[in-house]
Amino acid sequence: SAIYLKDYQVPAFLIDKTELTFDLDESVTIVTSRLHMRRNPKSKFRTAPLVLDGGEDVKLIALAMDDYQLPPEEYRLRNHQIIITATADEFVLTCETLIEPQNNTRLEGLYRSSSMFCTQCEAEGFRHITYYLDRPDVMSVFTTTIIADGDKYPVLLSNGNEVSRSLNEEGKTVAVWHDPFPKPAYLFALVAGNLEVIEDQFTTLSNRAVTLKIFTESHNIDKVDYSMDALKRSMKWDEEKYGREYDLDIFMIVAVDDFNMGAMENKGLNVFNSSCLLASPKTTTDDGYQRVEAVVAHEYFHNWSGNRVTCRDWFQLSLKEGFTVFRDQQFSADMNSPVVKRVEDVSFLKTAQFAEDAGPMSHPVRPSSFIEISNFYTLTIYEKGSEIVRMIHTLLGEDSFRKGSDLYFERHDGQAVTCDDFVQAMQDASGIDLSQFKRWYSQAGTPRVEAVGSYDEVTKTYQLTLTQATPPTANQPTKLPLLMPIRVGLLDENGKALTSELNGKNDTSHVLTLNLSEQVFEFKQVDTAPIPSLLRGFSAPVKLSYDYTVEQLSILMSSDEDGFNRWNAAQELAVRELNTLISQARRGEVLSIESQLLLGFKALLDDQSLDKSMVSLILSLPSQAYLSEISEEVDPQAIKQARTYLKQLIARALEQEFANCYEANNVDVDYSPDAQQISQRQLKNAALSYWSETNSVAAERAVLSQFQSADNMTDQFSALSIAVNTTHPEFQSMLDSFYSQWSHEALVVNKWLMLIAAQEADNGLEQVKQLMQHDAFDLKNPNKVRAVLGGLGSSVSTFHNETGAGYAFLADQIIVLNKRNPQLASRLCTPLTRWRKMKPNLSVLMQKQLERILSEELSKDVFEVVSKSLA
Ligand code: ARG
Ligand code: ZN
Repeated sequence: SAIYLKDYQVPAFLIDKTELTFDLDESVTIVTSRLHMRRNPKSKFRTAPLVLDGGEDVKLIALAMDDYQLPPEEYRLRNHQIIITATADEFVLTCETLIEPQNNTRLEGLYRSSSMFCTQCEAEGFRHITYYLDRPDVMSVFTTTIIADGDKYPVLLSNGNEVSRSLNEEGKTVAVWHDPFPKPAYLFALVAGNLEVIEDQFTTLSNRAVTLKIFTESHNIDKVDYSMDALKRSMKWDEEKYGREYDLDIFMIVAVDDFNMGAMENKGLNVFNSSCLLASPKTTTDDGYQRVEAVVAHEYFHNWSGNRVTCRDWFQLSLKEGFTVFRDQQFSADMNSPVVKRVEDVSFLKTAQFAEDAGPMSHPVRPSSFIEISNFYTLTIYEKGSEIVRMIHTLLGEDSFRKGSDLYFERHDGQAVTCDDFVQAMQDASGIDLSQFKRWYSQAGTPRVEAVGSYDEVTKTYQLTLTQATPPTANQPTKLPLLMPIRVGLLDENGKALTSELNGKNDTSHVLTLNLSEQVFEFKQVDTAPIPSLLRGFSAPVKLSYDYTVEQLSILMSSDEDGFNRWNAAQELAVRELNTLISQARRGEVLSIESQLLLGFKALLDDQSLDKSMVSLILSLPSQAYLSEISEEVDPQAIKQARTYLKQLIARALEQEFANCYEANNVDVDYSPDAQQISQRQLKNAALSYWSETNSVAAERAVLSQFQSADNMTDQFSALSIAVNTTHPEFQSMLDSFYSQWSHEALVVNKWLMLIAAQEADNGLEQVKQLMQHDAFDLKNPNKVRAVLGGLGSSVSTFHNETGAGYAFLADQIIVLNKRNPQLASRLCTPLTRWRKMKPNLSVLMQKQLERILSEELSKDVFEVVSKSLA
């Protein structure tokens, strides 16, 4: 039951106006819709029947056309759809449905989260509220009436502006909202609850006053000042950087505890997972602050890249998500350190998106088919989609890119469009031919680029030969060459930047346009044989290889003018050593290596002038997940052993340096989540993490003392994690006291749940089972489920246990959640889908669990992921 991009047809009917009335109640909620419909003049099917989408949880009570009650023989109900064969060209369809939000555990459509009602309609949640043309190219002007008990639900919200609020004859409160901007149903939202609010104002570029409101349950209202600040900074930034102004008189955000994803950009009424909105120094880590800032910006930016210009169909999802991720990454870079942000984003992409692209769910940024669209809110659509937009930015340059985005918004304002339309606007504004570039949208898989260089002393010419190839992926056996920007610089043997001439330009950095399978680039006026610094800033989402010597990597690591490539060279060095150690471990040998990292790391720790975040990023060894991604065959135990060995070796060799670095950066300041403080805490905690690997009494004392005296969650939680990971003598009592200190703060408790579930312990699975019985756990809350089962998935000794018990336990939970919350269940399958790459004994055990899941009666969500994994 897959649906295909090639089958796209314009809608046969349009809905000019949508009038909704919600009679909210704890037992049954009645939804009445009046849809002002007409045949679409653009449809070639002049007599097509009217087909409305619904859901298995929506009960139809009454259906009328132009106030004529349709008897059952004048319509059909099939597969949760209403089909009406005979319609006029223009009519008003009235539909009354009954739903039970309190029993909605899918968290799609209208549901309850703690004491409130809220909605999640993207992608296809609206059909769980009422029958509708639930597709993004049907855009309508919504008026929403909410009727509810005003004592229990004093706050009643929907999109747009509130037009009236009154009491009806039963004493219930009636609130009416109107959104003047036509929108698809996926952007509809409703919230009802007993909520607190903070209010602020923003004056737009053209001097319009916008009221800003953030709503939470009363115990969290002290944690949204940072979000409000981030919102105002986002609004200002979008005006300055993209010329985009906000368009309604009010912008609202609501925090809810039970939410499947991060947040949702509903027009004028964003709904957030509270984990992406709430922040306070004592309860939120620096990473948490940065996530809040990025997600607030992301959802706000959707107002233009998503809402004013939306997607024609769900195959175009990356049109709004890729572009909006690119915009939020640019924003975070401007607010903090650009190179640190780039390293973090690329490291995530190379770990998680590359793994997805090499696995059974590999798909193009514009997929050509899907069974369940919820499964396609992926790293490929979001992160690789953003890299595609970034490549356009690199190819066009800042000015032409801005002209292209202006043209895109102007040309398509109020429309539902495609990825082609986006690229076309960029091409038309810049005059740069992007026709070959478009292959990035249709071709899945991570391209490999190989580089070989040769220098001619006589002509002072450096020839760089680049070849590209993309490995086959599911349903795409052959791949064509892509057009990609490769940013390159040249260094001499002392690490000094060399100037060279390419295409008439003299510079230390050049952007090459690679678009053939094999291509030669000639750099002229190169004084001496160079070391190439390739793919600076990660200018294209590819796996690039070049046969560097260890010395060359060390030079790049310590001297490249491109900060990103300094980090990358350090990672490459570490990867080589870890791969040697992994091979030793797999052969059952005693691990031993002469680490070349020590000298560089020592220089790094001694150099006070460097950005502290960069130092700590360079110091951090490639993760278990990244090493798995680049392994031909994954041996989790060997990878863990190798990482631990190398970390301890470095820790012992540089014990004094780490201790000094810790002391030097352990300063007493009033907490602020600014880039400078964040980088200092990051380096301090990186140093503490190494230092603790020596198990010295001094380090143990430092960990305990930081845990007890910290006035912020970053330091407290870092100390706790280090204690757990190094089996500090006090770690158990630290875990206990952490829980009793924070048992009333759900988001902190989730961190505690995750830390315990991810712990490398012999009785790991027992602990996970106990956690799921703990008062702090709740199967209804996706954040808690992800904390425990996501934590479990990252533990080598528990999850990858050679008995297979870890896999079986996860499969049990997926089977339970498949019925309650298919979206969540489907996401939890990810670690099992990597079975093909695992070492043979584990691979078989994983496969068995996938087969067991597949033998159950499955939701579309879980079925798609599991069946494609086994195919
Ligand atoms: N559009 C939302 C975002 O900002 C994500 C919503 C995803 N919802 C879902 N049910 N898959 O990125
Ligand atoms: Zn988004």
